[in-house]
Amino acid sequence: MPKTVSEETERLKRVWEREAPTYDRRMGFFERVLFGDGREWVCSRASGEVLEVAVGTGRNFPFYPQGVRLTGIDLSPAMLEIARKRADGLGANVYLREGDAQELPFPGTSFETVVCTLSLCNIPDDRRAIAEMKRVLRPGGRLLLLDHVRASSKVWLAVQRVLEPLSWRFSRDHLLRRPLEHVLSEGFEVEQRERYKAGIVERLSARKPG
Ligand SMILES: C[S@@+](CC[C@H](N)C(=O)[O-])C[C@H]1O[C@@H](n2cnc3c(N)ncnc32)[C@H](O)[C@@H]1O
Repeated sequence: MPKTVSEETERLKRVWEREAPTYDRRMGFFERVLFGDGREWVCSRASGEVLEVAVGTGRNFPFYPQGVRLTGIDLSPAMLEIARKRADGLGANVYLREGDAQELPFPGTSFETVVCTLSLCNIPDDRRAIAEMKRVLRPGGRLLLLDHVRASSKVWLAVQRVLEPLSWRFSRDHLLRRPLEHVLSEGFEVEQRERYKAGIVERLSARKPG
């Protein structure tokens, strides 16, 4: 059983290398059932120099507005390879590189927008990842998140508590996280926040103070 964040990160990388070929098929189902127009909601708010953290296979690419300059990072080369093909297929000019969300390989204040979808449930140290997102954002820059979170309904929360050990064991997916708590403790100013699907899904837009 891995113990440290770096052991867990290495383990996750192996998991995503293995899962990459089937990710798009599986995710298509969850998008229909859970996330609705979440990707459009997040990406339509991005502008300027944009960093997408844990970009995966690039499922957000079709939803960015024209004119954004997009950089994507991910732990897994296999996920990035699919993202590369998707970007090329769309004719989108995206800079992709391998990297760890918990230690972003960019200088401070490099980006106007940071996007992260469906990955803070997976990144071992989600708090550190949000602190890194803040570091690389320019003052006044925008953080855009979409994820499944700890449910607001008691019934669904009880279901999540039962499923959490299985979900973590088989997919390294945490069901009981709430990124908003770290966003607030990092001092971001929340502009817009919506919960839906019994409060299981949350999307938010927040600004780094100027
Ligand atoms: C559930 S997928 C989500 C992919 C994509 N964001 C999406 O919305 O479809 C989780 C992704 O997070 C990536 N990931 C997990 N931990 C990471 C880390 N520490 N740094 C960078 N990427 C990470 C995985 O490699 C995987 O591509």
